[in-house]
Amino acid sequence: MKIAVIGGAGYIGSHTVRELLDAGHKVHVFDNLSSGLEQNLFPEAGFTKGDILSPAELDAFFSSFQPEGLVHLAAFKAAGESMTNPEKYSVNNISGSVNILNAASAHHVKYIVFSSSAATYGSPKYMPVDEKHPTDPENYYGFTKLAIEKFLKWYDDLRGIKFAALRYFNAAGYDVKGRINGLEKNPANLIPVVMEALTGKRSEVLVFGNDYDTADGTGVRDYIHVNDLARGHKMAFDYLQKNNQSLVVNLGTQTGASVLDIIHGAEKASGKKVPYRIVERRPGDPASLIANPAKAKEILGWEAKYSDLDTILSTTWKAYLANGLGK
Ligand code: WQD
Repeated sequence: MKIAVIGGAGYIGSHTVRELLDAGHKVHVFDNLSSGLEQNLFPEAGFTKGDILSPAELDAFFSSFQPEGLVHLAAFKAAGESMTNPEKYSVNNISGSVNILNAASAHHVKYIVFSSSAATYGSPKYMPVDEKHPTDPENYYGFTKLAIEKFLKWYDDLRGIKFAALRYFNAAGYDVKGRINGLEKNPANLIPVVMEALTGKRSEVLVFGNDYDTADGTGVRDYIHVNDLARGHKMAFDYLQKNNQSLVVNLGTQTGASVLDIIHGAEKASGKKVPYRIVERRPGDPASLIANPAKAKEILGWEAKYSDLDTILSTTWKAYLANGLGK
């Protein structure tokens, strides 16, 4: 299938492009390189530098590539920033997605795989979280992801475009075959922050609270390896092509790791000590957020293979070493 990957130069996008190429799809990346990296691009995939805020650039791209399917991963994703600058998230995440949907509709795209998020659920009412859990996002970023899922439902009803909304839990790790190592600029997520502390790019990790109702008091999350996420996108296209039926699924592991588990795991992977300090909780953080991935296993036949902490942290450490950081 000809598949356009919007945001395909990014961290998850580049791993998804690699997976789709390995499965024999014809792939073309559309990315403005605002957070994506040219080093994440593969020669076997086409590349068009363009902006989702330009309907004209999207129209020209869809006219020339004529994709049957598309993956939409182009979004800002910093939950904290979305609360202080919602306007930026409305423009990029909402208006940008509407532009993509209208271009897909005008150019008769059949299938859309959308990068959604566990942030659509908000604070967990029960655990592990399944797709029946209420969607009550607590940050504006999560709201934008949920809003786009609703647009997709309408474009399915009115235009027959079938979609798979993949609700990622905490994406982590790097390609187990070492083919991708582009590092995020100014990361806010825990694992890249820990790696920056290990490689001297920052002086210490601030641990946001150790008084949560968890085993060691620090926040627990469901870390999913990016190769597992990428495989989920490929399996979603297989499903859509075979069943012509839309779906929403969680991609997670149903296992949790605390902040201190991550810090100790990174020390094991690197053989170095992580400098850290316990500080106040970060507003809006739930104590624990763990996925129930049973629906993805049942409907897609998907399950995590590389999401153990050792693989996640060793592949991440190798990506930092590959960039000449740490030793
Ligand atoms: C993980 C844990 C923090 C940084 C976010 C988005 C979510 C999704 C994944 C895209 C928490 C703690 C973190 C630090 C810390 N993104 N932490 N010190 O908040 O679970 O989810 O990324 O889909 O939408 O909200 O990820 O990595 O920020 O935090 O103590 O410097 O690490 O409190 O317990 P989060 P995170």
